[in-house]
Amino acid sequence: MGLSKFSWVSGMATVFLQLVTGSFGWGQHGHYVTCKIAEGYLTENAMAVVKELLPKSAEGELAAVCSWADLFAVRSHYYWSRALHFVDTPDFRCNYDYARDCHDSSGRKNRCVTGATYNYTLQLMSACQNSASKSRYNLTEALMFLSHFVGDVHQVWDTEIIDTALKRFYGSDLNIMIESMQKNITEDWYNYVESWEECDANCTVCPNSYASESVKLACKYAYRNATPGSVLGVYCLILIAGVQAWSKEGHTITCKIAQDLLEPEALDAVKKLLPDNLNGNLSALCVWPDQVRHWYKYRWTSPLHFIDTPDDSCSFNYKRDCHDQHGVEDMCVAGAIQNYTSQLQHYREGTADRRYNMTEALLFLSHFMGDIHQVWDREIILTALKDYYDNDVDLLQQDIVGNFTNGIWSDDVSHWTDCNSLHTCVTKYATESINIACKWGYKDAEPGVTLSDEYFNSRLPFVMKRIAQGGVRLAMILNKVFNQGHEAMIAAT
Ligand SMILES: *[C@@H]1O[C@H](CO)[C@@H](O)[C@H](O)[C@H]1NC(C)=O
Ligand SMILES: *[C@@H]1O[C@H](CO)[C@@H](O)[C@H](O)[C@H]1NC(C)=O
Ligand SMILES: *[C@@H]1O[C@H](CO)[C@@H](O)[C@H](O)[C@H]1NC(C)=O
Ligand SMILES: *[C@@H]1O[C@H](CO)[C@@H](O)[C@H](O)[C@H]1NC(C)=O
Ligand SMILES: *[C@@H]1O[C@H](CO)[C@@H](O)[C@H](O)[C@H]1NC(C)=O
Ligand SMILES: *[C@@H]1O[C@H](CO)[C@@H](O)[C@H](O)[C@H]1NC(C)=O
Ligand SMILES: *[C@@H]1O[C@H](CO)[C@@H](O)[C@H](O)[C@H]1NC(C)=O
Ligand SMILES: *[C@@H]1O[C@H](CO)[C@@H](O)[C@H](O)[C@H]1NC(C)=O
Repeated sequence: MGLSKFSWVSGMATVFLQLVTGSFGWGQHGHYVTCKIAEGYLTENAMAVVKELLPKSAEGELAAVCSWADLFAVRSHYYWSRALHFVDTPDFRCNYDYARDCHDSSGRKNRCVTGATYNYTLQLMSACQNSASKSRYNLTEALMFLSHFVGDVHQVWDTEIIDTALKRFYGSDLNIMIESMQKNITEDWYNYVESWEECDANCTVCPNSYASESVKLACKYAYRNATPGSVLGVYCLILIAGVQAWSKEGHTITCKIAQDLLEPEALDAVKKLLPDNLNGNLSALCVWPDQVRHWYKYRWTSPLHFIDTPDDSCSFNYKRDCHDQHGVEDMCVAGAIQNYTSQLQHYREGTADRRYNMTEALLFLSHFMGDIHQVWDREIILTALKDYYDNDVDLLQQDIVGNFTNGIWSDDVSHWTDCNSLHTCVTKYATESINIACKWGYKDAEPGVTLSDEYFNSRLPFVMKRIAQGGVRLAMILNKVFNQGHEAMIAAT
């Protein structure tokens, strides 16, 4: 599940991670260094104007205000500026397109880091050319925003890498690091610097190409050196909880496993609830909740895909953690499973509440049972499919089923379905995921060490077991819910 603070950092999640600059993103150091380097390149004229615009407190130093836009006070006072710190590239796309990607969460165009870079460049330019606009804009703010966003648009990954490098190589002295970089600009990187400054069609600033570079870098390295779940990059995860994580393959296999374990009544109910043309093939629609979660109509379902546990708790506490960002209780994956189970419960009683769409309840429940068992991300599944199963989802499913019917988990499997009270059960499922993520998330977290094989091999067995458990437990719930012979599930809502 989107154990937001702990689990999946790698994969496409990382593509978001680096562009999503929550207040922890590049961090103060990254912005400071960027602006310090910029200061060294300012012409005398530019320096004079900058000094004039800077607030007194900056004492003539541009770098002193380059994190201003990240300050909590600024972010909360200028709430509208939140979207301006990043670009929201679609999942698995690995490229950036201004028209497609530069908008805020409600779809308003130009509201992203590249749009903001244009915006504040234009404000500063127009003030130079026409003194009337001097009073229209607060140019001090324009300068501080621009200097910050140019840092953000170059950001890849997060502040941990900078902070670690600072400690390891530069005796925690930022100035020494800046000197090393300045030296490289004039030596090792010298031949490239001219191309860094290039900008098409005589534009003053080219944030689109900067954003493309960042996205490409993140994509290229996303699966390699990032140590998912390590201390590197655990901070921004809450923001990326919206990315398709477990994704298609994990959900499809979970549902296929469940489907094969359904008893006749449940099979019949599922068939009736699904569109006719699917002929009861539940797995065909198990990713539907991921497909609609960004649609306007279903945006409210977004928090239902994950649980937001506090940074360092390594535990799940329903009361503390199961809520959305506004604190509305039960709005998390554990609450949603209870909710949709209890809606479906009415189906067999023939008292289906007309407020609820039973088809949707079935799809949500099936999907969220996958989410709550999710640990880490899709990459592990994709890699396993490629390396061991010839990219054949059915083969992988057979192997998983073999392992719980007559293999490594067969002694275990009867306990997987122990469940008297659904509330206790979902709490258990979430706790299991968090424990796995915590235990493995921080292990091996040696910044800078490439761990990809070890990472993959150590986590794969857990991922497979979680898929198996999700499937077996989903079948258990559906069988209880739809089968007259079973006691009703005790669901909270
Ligand atoms: C442009 O700047 C103004 C003034 O700060 C701000 O109100 C507006 O939202 C900005 N727009 C974008 C796209 O950055
Ligand atoms: C411009 O913005 C700065 C920083 O927010 C603020 O201190 C200053 O008072 C503003 N200037 C005007 C003229 O509003
Ligand atoms: C500068 O270049 C050297 C040699 O390529 C490299 O070892 C060092 O890490 C670079 N410094 C910075 C701050 O990038
Ligand atoms: C760029 O500027 C140069 C000189 O100012 C001009 O000759 C050229 O046509 C401009 N190119 C574009 C694409 O605007
Ligand atoms: C059911 O749907 C899944 C996922 O779309 C698909 O892979 C599978 O072939 C379908 N099964 C049948 C029997 O149609
Ligand atoms: C329960 O389901 C209903 C109908 O889909 C929805 O309005 C409500 O927000 C859901 N609550 C939870 C906690 O999932
Ligand atoms: C229930 O939801 C499904 C999927 O969104 C939709 O296709 C169907 O028309 C809905 N049924 C009713 C009765 O609203
Ligand atoms: C099934 O168990 C075997 C034997 O321990 C193991 O090699 C294989 O990876 C397991 N497969 C899955 C999908 O868990």
